[in-house]
Amino acid sequence: MSDTKEKIILTGDRPTGKLHIGHYVGSLRERVRLQNSGEYSEVYIMIADAQALTDNADNPGKVRNNILNVALDYLSVGIDPSKSSILIQSQIPELPELTQYYMNLVTVQRLERNPTVKSEIKMRGYSEKEDGKGTPVGFFCYPISQASDITAFKATTVPAGEDQSPMIEQAREIVRKFNSIYGDALVEPDILLPKSSAARRLPGTDGMAKMSKSLGNCIYLSDPEKEVEKKIMGMFTDPDHLKVSDPGKTEGNPVFIYLEAFAGPEIPESKAFFEEYAPDYQDLNEMEEHYRRGGLGDVKVKRFLNNVMQETLKPIREKRAEYEKDIPGVLEILKTGTEKAEEKAAGTLSDVKRAMKIDYFDEPSVITNADLAD
Ligand code: TRP
Repeated sequence: MSDTKEKIILTGDRPTGKLHIGHYVGSLRERVRLQNSGEYSEVYIMIADAQALTDNADNPGKVRNNILNVALDYLSVGIDPSKSSILIQSQIPELPELTQYYMNLVTVQRLERNPTVKSEIKMRGYSEKEDGKGTPVGFFCYPISQASDITAFKATTVPAGEDQSPMIEQAREIVRKFNSIYGDALVEPDILLPKSSAARRLPGTDGMAKMSKSLGNCIYLSDPEKEVEKKIMGMFTDPDHLKVSDPGKTEGNPVFIYLEAFAGPEIPESKAFFEEYAPDYQDLNEMEEHYRRGGLGDVKVKRFLNNVMQETLKPIREKRAEYEKDIPGVLEILKTGTEKAEEKAAGTLSDVKRAMKIDYFDEPSVITNADLAD
């Protein structure tokens, strides 16, 4: 036995739509790397359908339909079911049971201060002050249920985007509070953020801060080749870069942010991309310098980006097509992953009940005659 704590990963996504390249660079790519690193003894990837229902109660069909989409996205980017358990949140009743106990450790006021919840309430127009229809209680409490997702698997590491930081912080507080009241039963998780700033927040093809389905500015992992090309050739760039000879801005320019995320110095294939598709330049830095100096046209840069993206997405697309031919096989993967996950969560729930001394029937000494006296 090694004396270091075993490292365990838990992370997940709400199944409200197909996953896009923002998800890919922000987390999926990193998950695959971590899964293959050999550093983690267990990896759990959750399709968070119960969380998706907290703000889609009136649209369960949307959530249900996207479970398979997200599962296919996972498998096609290289999540390997022999190394990672893919699980469906709603099929693990231990999670809401944990949530019930954690709810007693969190105040309404603390939840109200959670910056992600705050901005999501605003975005969804729930605010009653602004004549919204009000915030569903389940939605308001989802950070607590997310703490259950993480702690149920004794996760040490949560690879996720920056927007999830407040959730992990809230989970850590719950763990500390639980352990201090009932004794150490839970593990405090750390968030693992993507390294490059381009990967942390990939803008939409229109340059808006975030890719979002409603803005129609996403490139999906499952988009066909032609669609990807069309979206890239229509991307926003530097609005002041009118003539090829004009000096251009690379900072804040979505095309260059994408290049940084897909062909930047941290990307293993980047050298090969330049050799093959832009041999005039050694690396992205040189291409950026040329653009800033003037003399490099947007169309040329976009063509390069398109080549890079097609190379990146082709193997993903091919793998997806394979899995699409065997949907019952995909369901079997989800079932196996969920079963393994439930076993783990059941172990944690019994640790929690033992720590709280509410395991009355498993441990008869918990309730004795002595309890009659108070
Ligand atoms: N809140 C995450 C999202 O919106 C999804 C999620 C649910 C999650 N449970 C999780 C992420 C646990 C990390 C860990 O994408």
